[in-house]
Parts: sequence; C-alpha cells; structure tokens
Amino acid sequence: MTIKDYNFSGKKAIVRVDFNVPMKEGVITDDTRIRGALPTLKHILDGGGALIIMSHMGKPKGKVKPELSLGQIKDAVAAALGVAEVKFAPDCAKAADAAAALKPGEVLMLENLRYYPEEEGKPVGVEKGTPEYEEAKKAMKASQKEFAKTLASYADCYVMDAFGTAHRKHASTAVIADYFDADNKMLGFLMEKEVQAVDNVLNNIKRPFVAVMGGSKVSTKIGIIENLLGKVDKLILCGGMTYTFVKAHGGEIGDSIVELDKLDVALNVEKLAKENNVELVLAEDSVCCTGYDFSTFKVKEGAKVEIFPSKEIPAGFEGLDVGPKSAAKFAAALDGAKTILWNGPAGCFECDDFCAGSRAVGDAIAKATAEGAFSLIGGGDSVACCTKFGLTDKVSYISTGGGALLEAIEGKVLPGVAAIKG
Ligand code: 3PG
Repeated sequence: MTIKDYNFSGKKAIVRVDFNVPMKEGVITDDTRIRGALPTLKHILDGGGALIIMSHMGKPKGKVKPELSLGQIKDAVAAALGVAEVKFAPDCAKAADAAAALKPGEVLMLENLRYYPEEEGKPVGVEKGTPEYEEAKKAMKASQKEFAKTLASYADCYVMDAFGTAHRKHASTAVIADYFDADNKMLGFLMEKEVQAVDNVLNNIKRPFVAVMGGSKVSTKIGIIENLLGKVDKLILCGGMTYTFVKAHGGEIGDSIVELDKLDVALNVEKLAKENNVELVLAEDSVCCTGYDFSTFKVKEGAKVEIFPSKEIPAGFEGLDVGPKSAAKFAAALDGAKTILWNGPAGCFECDDFCAGSRAVGDAIAKATAEGAFSLIGGGDSVACCTKFGLTDKVSYISTGGGALLEAIEGKVLPGVAAIKG
C-alpha cells in the first residue's frame, strides 16, 4: 500500500515520526524533522483521517525523564500543522480511550515511547553476557510484542515516516507492522523521499559520482567508505580523519587528532581505492591552531593560527581545517560531478577561522547542483554547514537521518523499511 493510494477518510492512522529534535531550554533549535514529516501528516488530515503521532526523544532508557517529554513540543507541532490543538497522551501505553475519542481532523500525540524499555526491547538492569541476560532478553522480546500490539490497537492503519530511526528495530518502527495487514501499513512521504535519495546515490548513479566524507574518525565511517569505493569515481576524505592517513605514511601531524590503531585501515582504504579505480582526494595543507576550545568553538586567547602542509605540522599545532590548496583541490574534484554525497565537514566549521574548507566543499556542491547534479547531504554537521553557508536550497536533498542514512548508504536494509516492504 502507498500513502497516496490509501483512503484515510474516517480512519485513525498511527504515524511513527522522528521528532527527536534538538532542544535548548525547552525551545526547539532545529525543526527540520518536524517540517520533514508535515507532508505525510497533512495528507492524512486532508484525507479525512485522524492522527495519532508517536516518537521518541533522546535516550531515557526506559525511565520517565520530564526533560525528554514530547509534551514540550506539542504546541510547536500544532503550529506547524496549522491545527488549533494537538491533544496529548501522557502515557503512550495507556492511550486507548484518548485514541478512541479522536474525530476526523483531530491529532493526538503520544508521550515519549522510550519511557518504556519495551520500545527498544533491551533488558534493563541485567548485565550483558550473563545467563540471566539471555532469559531477560527473551522475556523482553515478548513484552515488546505486547507493547507494539497495544500501540497498534489505537489505529486502523500504520504509517512509518521516521527515517531518522528507521535503522532501529524497535516496537514502533518495525514490530508494530506485524499487527497490520499489508493493505493497512505503508511508508510516509518522507520515508519515500529518503529511500529515493539513497537509491539515487547507490543504484541510480549518474557519473561522475563524487563523495565527500569528513569527520574525525575513519573507524566510524569505514563501513560506508568501503561500500562507496565500489560505486564512486572520486572520494574526497577530509576532517580529522585526514591525519590518520597522513600518519600512516609517516607524516608529522603535530597535535592533530589521530587513530594510531587504525593506520592499517587507512592504508587499506588507499589500496581498495586503487583496486576500484577510485581517485582518492586527500588534504595536502591544513589550517592549524595552538589552542582551540571545542566547547565554545573559539580560538583561545593568545593562541596562534597558521597554515602548514598536512604532513609537516609542528608539535603544539593541531589541524582544524583543510588549507586553501586542499579547498581548491576539493572544489576542482567536485566540478562537473553528476552525483554527489556529502557526509561530514572538512573542519571545525562552527568557528569562522576553520570553516573555509567546509564552505568551499558546500559551494562546489551547490555549483555542481545548479549544473544538473543530484546532491545528497546527510549527517547533522554537514546539514549545519549548509544552514550556516545559506546552501539549504542549493543542494538537491538534505536527509533527516544521521545513523539511519549512514547504514542505508553502507547498503544495509533498514528494519523500518523492511517492516513495510518485507
Ligand atoms: C537520531 O537522532 O539519529 C535518531 O532520532 C535516532 O536516535 P537514536 O540514535 O537514539 O536511536
């Protein structure tokens, strides 16, 4: 079943969204995920349905944590949806009456699903690896099914639209689908768009395909890098992981971040790139600093900022951005690309002293997009770069997924998709 074809008139739809939005002092600081779910939510209301919205927020690990209550965002959701009120069920597992009373056009939001350990389905308070754990796991799987069945009982149909959480096999993202027949469960518009965007960079590739991977550790990106090496024409590697590659060749990296136990991983990436005929593009110069405060994103009083070749960084200096030569090299590598994936900034973009590399990458992607490329941007920091540099409307698609996008690009089947599509 597809959301476009389903007749929502007079039906109650339970929709899993990812409203795990960043908050500061009770205020939403980035509502991208709420805006991302609006087409689905509005479509159901416009079609004469009633909405039951469910999500998690943060990691309360099976405990009630008021600072992670979804109650604090319900008015923002009402405003975004353009409805007078979003009703609220303060206990997601005891919302049957509130759900039954819903009329077409009305909206009910359930409290944070992760207040119940059954949502994640992991045993609590038992040590992993013990025989008790295995027993507790079995018992928890059974209660997870019960929990999912309770959620399912509120509605006539289930819509999965939480791409950001689609890599989790949780009660509300996957198990719940077992309690609806094939005609009454479907992916939402956001999921469809995200799955399509991933397909564009994995299967429906227009060449040349250039991927830009940043971030501080090669170890956390190795799965995706390996999968991409079988698909891209050029792979730009930047951010802190640069120094693991430089160190692997015996370069001097000063005080830059490095994974000394992953030098072989870096060398293997280079080998795989050669075998796959992929041009690996690495930074050759770096903007370095003698004292950077990572909590305030500021250069400390009296600290020096200088540019060095990435393999000749003196002791006391830490590489915090790619230098101008590298930025130009990256822009040249992106010129003429027809498919682009960007995950992870080139440097500490939050600080104006170290954002030029990420800006150069973003601008080059915007230029290629204007010339007809499909560009997919994912991961909180690259998305924040696009916002900072005013590029959000100049790229093809900005994903709402962090871990989910990475797993999808690694080529893994997401449980949230499998639950609907089989
Ligand atoms: C995210 O923010 O990436 C999603 O909401 C998933 O959250 P999780 O990593 O806590 O499952």
